[in-house]
Amino acid sequence: MYVCICHSITDRQIRRAVDQGARTLSEVQRQLPVAACCGRCAAVAREVIRSHADGAAQDREASYCAAVAFAR
Ligand code: FES
Repeated sequence: MYVCICHSITDRQIRRAVDQGARTLSEVQRQLPVAACCGRCAAVAREVIRSHADGAAQDREASYCAAVAFAR
C-alpha cells in the first residue's frame, strides 16, 4: 500500500528500513524521503514503523523463549 503519495513510498519500503535498523521516522527518512513534502503521510508512516518494530521485537522474544525452553 502506498503510504506517501508525494514520493510513491510503500509500507513495504518502510518495513524494509525498519528491518535495517530504523526505529523512528527521522531514521527512516535517512533512507527514504517519506513525509518530506506535504507531510500528510507522517502519522501513517510512524504507525507502520511502530507496528513493524513491535512485531520484530515480539518475534525476537518468542525466539528467545523457545531457545530457553529448549535448553531446559
Ligand atoms: S504524502 Fe508523504 S510527503 Fe506528501
